[in-house]
Amino acid sequence: MNNHPIGIFDSGLGGLTIWKEIHTLLPQEDTYYLADSKHAPYGDKPPEEIIRLSVKNTEFLLARNCKLIVVACNTATTNAISHLRKTYDVPFIGIEPAIKPAALHTTTGKVGVLATKGTLSSSLFHHTTRNHAAGIRVIDQIGTGLVPLIEAGEARSEAARSLLKKYLKPMLDAGVDQIVLGCTHYPFLIPLLEELLPKHINILDCGMAVARQTQRVLAEHELLNPATKPGAHHFYTNKSLEILKDMLAYLGAEGEARFEDF
Ligand code: DGL
Repeated sequence: MNNHPIGIFDSGLGGLTIWKEIHTLLPQEDTYYLADSKHAPYGDKPPEEIIRLSVKNTEFLLARNCKLIVVACNTATTNAISHLRKTYDVPFIGIEPAIKPAALHTTTGKVGVLATKGTLSSSLFHHTTRNHAAGIRVIDQIGTGLVPLIEAGEARSEAARSLLKKYLKPMLDAGVDQIVLGCTHYPFLIPLLEELLPKHINILDCGMAVARQTQRVLAEHELLNPATKPGAHHFYTNKSLEILKDMLAYLGAEGEARFEDF
């Protein structure tokens, strides 16, 4: 099974930021990436619906022989990963907002978290905050409207800039020095965030940590691909192939990009 691909899914294009880190760390691995953009955003959906969509995505990837699945979506992880782990035999890697490193690094004792409603209202998020940010003031903010803009290929538009300005204000007013991007779509906003935020504010996302965890779990299960040639990559979307291709070009990702109505 070592030469089987890694499967990665997200509610859309955001998980490509995770794909990029996995590919950088594990260039010999083949991958299948599934962008469920037709159903984005997941963040406003009830948990049962997020579970149903996550099951559908998992089965799509298992049908392509994936040896491990990365749930490259905070919303799907916080709402559905325990169901997926109970239902399927393959290992699953999940994503959680990087609260722990933010709590470790803050010197003001105040940390901002920008995420979807589905993530911020989940019990896993509250559990992580209680366990890793005790004594830290967490200013959380729902990023309503950001995922649809990124999905529309408008991550650097005026509309994205003005939403971000509005969402960052309460965090800046509170004196945060760390801002956690709790949604895998949001790293596409980093160019705008860097323009809008004072230099001393640290922006955290969990891409590299997820890639390292993927490597560890593959090694534990003796599933690392020993090949020395670069892996092959397949990217699927059920919405706009053109926007998918634009995002892949932006990330310098090479592989087969396809539309499929899943
Ligand atoms: N990329 C997803 C996440 O990390 C986007 C959420 C959504 O679809 O609302 O949560």
